[in-house]
Amino acid sequence: MPVQWLDRLIFYYFHWKACLMPTTLDELLRRLMKNSLFRDREKLRPDYVPDTLPHREGHITQLAQILLPPIIRGARPSNVFIYGYTGTGKTAVTRYVLNWIASRFGDGGGTPRKVMTAMVNCSNNDTNYRVLRALNVSLGVRVPFTGLSVAELYERFKRKLDSGDTIMIVALDEIDSLVKKSGDELLYKLTRINSELTKARLSLIGITNDLNFRDYLDARVRSSLGEEELVFQPYNADELRDILEHRAKLAFYPGVIEDGVIPLCAHLAAREHGDARRALDLLRVAGEIAEREGAEKITIEHVKRAVLEIERDKAVELIRTLPFHSKAVLMAIYLLRDRPGGATTGEIYEVYTKLVRGIGLDPVTQRRVSDIISELDVVGLVQARLLSRGRYGRTKYVSLRVGERALTEGLRGDELLRGYLDRRGALGFRV
Ligand SMILES: Nc1ncnc2c1ncn2[C@@H]1O[C@H](COP(=O)(O)OP(=O)(O)OP(=O)(O)O)[C@@H](O)[C@H]1O
Ligand SMILES: [Mg+2]
Repeated sequence: MPVQWLDRLIFYYFHWKACLMPTTLDELLRRLMKNSLFRDREKLRPDYVPDTLPHREGHITQLAQILLPPIIRGARPSNVFIYGYTGTGKTAVTRYVLNWIASRFGDGGGTPRKVMTAMVNCSNNDTNYRVLRALNVSLGVRVPFTGLSVAELYERFKRKLDSGDTIMIVALDEIDSLVKKSGDELLYKLTRINSELTKARLSLIGITNDLNFRDYLDARVRSSLGEEELVFQPYNADELRDILEHRAKLAFYPGVIEDGVIPLCAHLAAREHGDARRALDLLRVAGEIAEREGAEKITIEHVKRAVLEIERDKAVELIRTLPFHSKAVLMAIYLLRDRPGGATTGEIYEVYTKLVRGIGLDPVTQRRVSDIISELDVVGLVQARLLSRGRYGRTKYVSLRVGERALTEGLRGDELLRGYLDRRGALGFRV
């Protein structure tokens, strides 16, 4: 009898242990990695280039078909102009093709000339000096951050490039930032550089999401940069779903994403002009929220919260980049938040004036403040409604559309207004 009892005990013990055992080795690994849902978070970062780019096989082939035939003959490929909405894969496709070309033809690969590639992001490098510096660095030429003339940098680049029998393909990503800030003079020089080179050859790829960009260019630059053109269309929800599923396999452990999460991220991003970056951000942030609260799975609820969190971050960024007087008006609207139905322009102007005078500056006119309120309304930070007050005519009532945390975080970056936050705590300024 006691033996039977012991048997039963042993049976229950192992049964209990088996219930606790993870069902798969992935699951085990996940538990060991402190309950992380992410297998590799980096795979969702914007600068990661995946091995396959679903729904962009056509663009990859098109770009390769423009570049490869001349390369094989040892000739210069045509310049290419690439445009399309944000998040449609322009950077990813270009990087993918250039990486492949560099690995295949970097040492010649049986073709008459070696091929070198460089990709410069012009929103980080928006002056002629910075772009030329980056190009020099890509050829191994060391150049100081400041101090030389642009003409000198150009000469150094040209000299080094022409020291070998090479074809160089330069992709200028977000090229509109360079042209808007510094004009198209450098582009003009780079599109003409081949007539000054004796051995080497250079091709340009210009990439932009500004569909009106070509209007900024001189006609000669426009035609030489646009020898070939590639247009990237927005992704639809089904395409975004495939992209997300592929990336999710790399980034998360199996089974941690609840059904419906990926279709929802795809649907939301498709609604916003088919932006793959937006779709990936939603999934990543949803994953981070789920992980922060120690959840076993990413749920639809996490995606909804990710939407709010991303909106919040966008609002903070927007506030940070506002001009000073717009920030002061926003702060005034915040201080008047208790007014039922919103504050009137007159009330806002009064508080705004106090705030600005309080730091020793002159206020702008009430007319200008009224315009600023309309601008804040357009970007969605406040809501302004015109209501009829019977025979007194119509009055504008303004209320805030952004939360206190986002507001204080955004305003804290302003050196002058920061004082109000620091001295009086989270905007506890008395009106
Ligand atoms: N077909 C795809 N497959 C997998 N990932 C993709 C695909 N297209 C885009 N992505 C990813 O989406 C993000 C945005 O893509 P990318 O940076 O290429 O957009 P873009 O067109 O250059 O946008 P922008 O104009 O804002 O620079 C990147 O993380 C990229 O890896
Ligand atoms: Mg890009």
